[in-house]
Amino acid sequence: MPAVSFAAPSSQSFEVVPLAGEVGVEIIGLDLSQPLNDAGFARIHKAHLDYHVVIFRDQRITPQQQVDFSRRFGVLQIHVLKQFLLANHPEILIVSNVVENGQPIGLGDAGKYWHSDLSYKELPSLGSMLHAQELPCEGGDTLFANMHRAWDTLPQNLREAVEGKSAVHSYVSRYSEGKNADNWRPKLTPEQLAQVVEVTHPIVRTHPENGRKALFVSEGFTTRIVGLPDDESRDLLAQLYAHSVLPEHVYRHQWQARDMVFWDNRSLIHLAAGCPPALRRTLYRTTIQGDAPF
Ligand code: OGA
Ligand code: MN
Repeated sequence: MPAVSFAAPSSQSFEVVPLAGEVGVEIIGLDLSQPLNDAGFARIHKAHLDYHVVIFRDQRITPQQQVDFSRRFGVLQIHVLKQFLLANHPEILIVSNVVENGQPIGLGDAGKYWHSDLSYKELPSLGSMLHAQELPCEGGDTLFANMHRAWDTLPQNLREAVEGKSAVHSYVSRYSEGKNADNWRPKLTPEQLAQVVEVTHPIVRTHPENGRKALFVSEGFTTRIVGLPDDESRDLLAQLYAHSVLPEHVYRHQWQARDMVFWDNRSLIHLAAGCPPALRRTLYRTTIQGDAPF
């Protein structure tokens, strides 16, 4: 009788190719619709920690395959805007500027301000994966700023001003101060509001996996520095924001068809550069829960 052999998950061969600069690595030749063994997974995990943005090219994957791959990195977070979750896949947030029958099909202003996903939660996101479904022929880039670099190069006076301090992060701030002028943000129910009570996090956090320090504030969700008068807080935050997004800290991702991009929200902040509103742009996002910043 022939011996019964159980096939181990196949070891796909693929290349890990860093981009120029400190942020961004391309994964070439990996098919995320196929099994990936532990050794392959470990290479991806390491690339994520070292380069903060991992770009998987040309992924023909289903929403379920995106969810399954995302889950290997941790628990998935369900976005508070239930109306923009993909049918039968609540782990997927639709990021889109498309309006059908007068109704937006997804979150249209995701990323209009520099931010780290879900920094307004007690447990902000470890990382997010965005899979391109439909891309505009012009614009629509996503920018990523390296917050380890931002901390490492922060002038001494600013370092001293923020060390040991915390800041408030608030989801609801996105609905105020003219940030919702184009009305993409639907009104929140009392139930939704209860899920997004403001939180405080250290301004300088330590990445739990790579051990590096990073600035952890952004114009998207940070509202004030704890213990400072309003004007001082505003002034200091403005200086931190300006330093964080200096061109030398930023990688600009120009999307290619079916890219799947996995970034580290503990190391980076990001921004949607926007595209002409007449051009359709839709991506699917999964979001992985991280630790409490320290
Ligand atoms: C997001 C986000 C940016 C973009 O989905 O979290 O910020 O370019 N998206 O769509
Ligand atoms: Mn985002």
